[in-house]
Amino acid sequence: MNTKNMLLGLGACLLSSCACDKCQIDTTAELDYCKQQVERTLDDLRDANGNIDYTMTPFASADSASKWRLNKVCKEEWRAGFWPGTLWYTYEHTQDATIKAEAEKFTEELEFLSKTPAHDHDLGFLIFCSYGNGYRLTGNPTYKQVILDTADTLATLFNPAVGTILSWPRHLDDLGGHNTIMDNMINLEMLFWAAKNGGNPRLADIARAHADKTMQCHFMPNYVGYHVAIYNPTTGDFIRGCTHQGYADNTMWARGQSWAIYGYTMVYRETGDPKYLDFAQKVTDVYLSQLPEDFVPYWDFSAPGIPDAPRDASAAAIVASGLLELSTYVDAEKAKIYKNAAVKMLTSLSSDTYKGGAQKSAFLRHATGHYPAGSDIDASLIYADYYYIEALLRLQRLEESKTILG
Ligand code: GLY
Repeated sequence: MNTKNMLLGLGACLLSSCACDKCQIDTTAELDYCKQQVERTLDDLRDANGNIDYTMTPFASADSASKWRLNKVCKEEWRAGFWPGTLWYTYEHTQDATIKAEAEKFTEELEFLSKTPAHDHDLGFLIFCSYGNGYRLTGNPTYKQVILDTADTLATLFNPAVGTILSWPRHLDDLGGHNTIMDNMINLEMLFWAAKNGGNPRLADIARAHADKTMQCHFMPNYVGYHVAIYNPTTGDFIRGCTHQGYADNTMWARGQSWAIYGYTMVYRETGDPKYLDFAQKVTDVYLSQLPEDFVPYWDFSAPGIPDAPRDASAAAIVASGLLELSTYVDAEKAKIYKNAAVKMLTSLSSDTYKGGAQKSAFLRHATGHYPAGSDIDASLIYADYYYIEALLRLQRLEESKTILG
C-alpha cells in the first residue's frame, strides 16, 4: 500500500470505526474476569493434594480444550515468563496475597537464567515479564539482581560489527549469517532498564544501536517489517529479509508488526529521541490501515483464505497495549486515533467471540502461534493473555489520569 492510500485508510478509520463512540470497555469488570480465569488456572494446576509443580508453565491451549497445556520451564521455553507476569498483573489489580505468593513461586523458577549462558534473545521476555513486574511491584532487591545479571547475559549476544543482538545463535549457519528477528525489539526494554538501575551504561548503547540498525535495515519501504533480517557477521552488511512465522518474506506477519509497534514506542519512552516516535507511528499506521473490521488481524495480512483465515488475538492485545502508550506521546489528533483504535481492539477481544469465558480458563481465544509450523493455530496463547491484562491495566490508569506504566 502506498503512503497516500495508507493515509486515506487511516482517515477513514478515524471517521468511522476507530472513532468508536460505542466502544466502551469496563476495565474493572474485565480485570475481575481475568482474576477469575487466573484462579481457575491455579485450581487446574493443583494436584489432588493441593500442590502445584512450579516447574511447569502454561503456554497454549487448543480452542476445544478447557485447560492450558504445560511445558517444563527451561532455557528453550521462551514463553515461561508470561504466566508469572500475568500473575503479577493480576496481583496488581487485586492486591491478593495468595496471587502474589503464586507469582513469586513461578517467577523464582526462572532464576537459573541469570546464571546460564544465553541460549537466545528471549531472555527479556523470560525475565522482564516475570522478575521485571515482580520488582516493580515489590522492590525485592534479589529480583533486581536477577534482572541486572540477565541483562548482562543478553548483551553477550550483541555483535558490534552488525550493531544488533544475534537473536538465534542456533540458526547462524542454516540462515546464512547473523540473524535478528523483529521480536527481539521487546527484549531491549530490559537493557534500558538495567542501564538506568545500576547496570552497565553500555547496555543502553547496545539497545539503541539495535533499534537503529533494525530501523535502517529490517523494514520494507512501506514500513512493514521482515520477521528475520540476516546480516554479514563481519561487515554488518544487510544480506536479506525473510520470514519464519509469516506467510511470505514480504508480507505483514501480524505479530511481527505488533512487536515493532510496541518496541519502537518503548524505545521512544526510554530514549526521548523523536526519531523513534516518528518511526513508531509509521509502523503503526501501515498496520492500522489494513485491519479487518473488528481490528483483530488475520495471522498474516496476506494469509491465504482471508476472510476465513485464522486470526491472531495475541497481535491485537500487544498492539492495543502499545497503542495506549503511544497515544500519550503524540499530538491530540493522533492520540485520539490511537486510543480509539486500542479501545476498539480491546472491545473486540472482550466480546464473547474472543473470550475464553466459561468454556476455557484462558482469558482469550483465537490467537495463532506458528502457522507455517502448524502449531497453536486458532488457540489460546499465554502471551495473548499477558498483553491483554497489561492493556486493560494501562487503559484503567489512563481513565484515572494516572501514569500509564504503573
Ligand atoms: N517470539 C516468538 C513469537 O512471537 O511467536
